[in-house]
Amino acid sequence: MWTSARLRESFLAFFEEKDHLRLPSSSLIPVNDPTLLLIGAGMAPFKSYFRGEEKPPHVRITTCQKCVRADDSNVGVTARHHTFFEMLGNFSFGDYFKKESIEWAWEYLTERLNLDPNRLWVTIYPGDMVAFNHWNKDVGVPAERISELEDNFWGPIGATGPCGPCSEIYYDRGEGPWWCGRTECAPGCNCDRYLEIWNLVFTGLNKEEDGSFSDLPRPCIDTGAGLDRITFLMQGKNNPYETDAFQPAMLALKEFSGHTLDEGGRVALALKIIGDHTRAVIFLLADGISPSNEGRGYVLRRLLRRAMRFGRVLGIHGTFLEKLVPAFVAVYGEIYPELATRELHVTNVLIQEQQNFLRTLEQGEHLLQSLLQASTPLSGTDVFRLYDTYGFPHELTQEIAAERGIQIDLDGFHKALEEARERSRADLEKKLDDARGGTIAVSHEQPSEFLGYQRTGAHAHVVHLFRQGMEVDEAHEGEGASVILDRTPFYAEGGGQVGDTGIFKSGELLVEVLDTQKGPHDTIVHRVEIRRGSLKKGAELEAIVDAKRRGDIMRHHTATHLLQAALRTVVGAHITQTGSLVAPDRLRFDFSHYAPLTPEQIETVERLVNEEVLRNQAVDKREMSMSEATAAGALAFFEEKYADRVRVVTVENFSKELCGGTHCARTGDIGLFKITSESAIAAGQRRIEAVCGMVALEAVRTYENILKTVSQDLKTTPTEIPGSLSRLKESLKRTERQVEELGEKLSAQRAGDLVSESVEVGGVKLLATEVPGVTSDGLSRLGDQLRDKLQSGIVLLGTRNGEGAKLMCWVTKDLVGRGYSAGNVIKAVIPTIGGKGGGRPEFAQGGGNKPDALSQALTEAKSLISRQAEG
Ligand code: SER
Repeated sequence: MWTSARLRESFLAFFEEKDHLRLPSSSLIPVNDPTLLLIGAGMAPFKSYFRGEEKPPHVRITTCQKCVRADDSNVGVTARHHTFFEMLGNFSFGDYFKKESIEWAWEYLTERLNLDPNRLWVTIYPGDMVAFNHWNKDVGVPAERISELEDNFWGPIGATGPCGPCSEIYYDRGEGPWWCGRTECAPGCNCDRYLEIWNLVFTGLNKEEDGSFSDLPRPCIDTGAGLDRITFLMQGKNNPYETDAFQPAMLALKEFSGHTLDEGGRVALALKIIGDHTRAVIFLLADGISPSNEGRGYVLRRLLRRAMRFGRVLGIHGTFLEKLVPAFVAVYGEIYPELATRELHVTNVLIQEQQNFLRTLEQGEHLLQSLLQASTPLSGTDVFRLYDTYGFPHELTQEIAAERGIQIDLDGFHKALEEARERSRADLEKKLDDARGGTIAVSHEQPSEFLGYQRTGAHAHVVHLFRQGMEVDEAHEGEGASVILDRTPFYAEGGGQVGDTGIFKSGELLVEVLDTQKGPHDTIVHRVEIRRGSLKKGAELEAIVDAKRRGDIMRHHTATHLLQAALRTVVGAHITQTGSLVAPDRLRFDFSHYAPLTPEQIETVERLVNEEVLRNQAVDKREMSMSEATAAGALAFFEEKYADRVRVVTVENFSKELCGGTHCARTGDIGLFKITSESAIAAGQRRIEAVCGMVALEAVRTYENILKTVSQDLKTTPTEIPGSLSRLKESLKRTERQVEELGEKLSAQRAGDLVSESVEVGGVKLLATEVPGVTSDGLSRLGDQLRDKLQSGIVLLGTRNGEGAKLMCWVTKDLVGRGYSAGNVIKAVIPTIGGKGGGRPEFAQGGGNKPDALSQALTEAKSLISRQAEG
């Protein structure tokens, strides 16, 4: 059978035979491309190769690329659309062009897959006679099966980038149930009869920011064939969900919901949507994306929630998506190892996120129910609020409202949504603008030679000099500038490691290097300030890195590698780096893991790293090919783009990572390694911060000083602090008990004194007075005692505390029986002291912010009670 795995392999092997370099799929997270949220086409990771900004490892490349397109509206509805899919592709970077790409596509389809040539149709861009002739004359497709399609122009993805006219290959599936039935149905029709299986793009143009098109340095080829489509076609199925790629997931869904695709209708739609979205969510999670309310994380969250919502159609209300993980790992785990190694993490985050959603759904449902009480149509803003704050999909709101016969304002909702999108688009544009402001144009391709692995000082020449983004010949004392040298020992920020600082000097000239960054075309840009003299283009100077700072950075970098290795040993091989910072005074390592580390785990990690330091191992750095590095098991960081030749940093038997950073000679150079914190940065994302060398010593000293200060205060030694503290706590408890006892005594005494102040009105004993200097507790204790002493009567006590006043009232049971109520008294007089209050007939209290009116309130209460007693 043509399994999806066999098809993938046959495609890549075919193009390898045609001298293409096979590269693994890039991560779904674009590298160095702020214009893209997610990789959505096979060509997306190669934009800079098309534009000639970077040199590809080979002029012919073939890949099977993981892609995500966030539009979910057609998923399950057609047999063609997915949110996550794999795109098979062959690429030429200025090498072959239309003829070869057409001939090879034809050869693969008709000779390797043995597809019936009579069922293959072709579309071309209107007027592209070159493509027409290759199809018609070289390959032999009859003219009546070649048509022109206006929208056969592909790209760019995002606002700018490589694009060009294209030519599509369609397979006619015949007149089955998938056919729209129209006689004019033809390639390009929206039904599933003519299935587009391959798109050949003749990428010759680049769309610029102003909307114009410019020629690429050399014409290129970018082709894309959807693996899911070819698979269901080759397996003779109706849609991808019936193929080996989805069958395990469909079986799992059947097992716990009882439903199958055969039922058709809404059930089949739900199964397909759940299958598609869950696959996408699993791949996104495996690439280190976490659910969130923006960007990639939001795509993930939205798909997950939509899948859960369709669970309701199958009668599932709890968490269930995690049950599909083993099904997809079984299908994809081998070709995409990140799925297999991160299965546990993916499962855990899936469960957590579903539980969160169920909770927000519950909260949203309360709000929705109360909005529905009004029985008027729900406004667009309300629907948007439910969606934005509670993650309540508008379809769900609509469904629930419809059950009550209530309409929702969908237009208003879409308007609110559009406004929100507009805001985030404006944000992105601003970020892009900022980035552009900082870039500089280098007119020719002379990469800077980096000498910093071997030394920290070198003689060099100024090749480019920029002020405020403009190239200049000279920069003067007091001015800032950006400088590119022909060779430099300065490390440009990258791989989490901060850029070097230092000086340039030559005779009188003294320049301070404040930061070093990567520039275009592999150049290294120094951000400088001229301290003395003038810096001229072409000048020779001595470039000297601040070696002490660099040494501290190297310590922290090597320690970061040891930390990652120790984490993998202690916590599990599923942890994946999601970010890092390597600075002279600290390191930060972000990684995905679903739970906080236990104190024991943190201690063990710290100990393992320090043991490696003490073993004083050599830190080996060497260049090799990417495939050698992968074979040796080197860890790669997915955010990084690696060239064909990579640098591998190894500490024997402990750590092996791809890394371009600067490292210690031996692990012993790190000195002490101390973890300073472990925390959460997002769902499923943890962060460890640590320090090394003298900084670690400083950190320990700081703790020590704190202990010293505390022990001096406690008049004891640091080791005896715990004992001393627990004694102190004991004694504090004793004192508190004494204070309480004294309070009781004092209040009993006061009660004795006060009881004589009671008066009798109409046969009711009444005691109403202000008690200075008591707390609320004291007042309530005093009142209880007075009530008991009076046996029958009413007690009304007030006190001031700071800006406010407090009133409490007690009525003995017998008087409650006669219609007196503490609650009524308080309710009546509390406004006088500017507050609100009330309570039960036996006891009530209240407070206000007008303490000066307290005696007036007491008088009012007295007369209220007298009136009741006498009336
Ligand atoms: N870039 C084209 C597409 O996505 C061909 O790979 O269809």
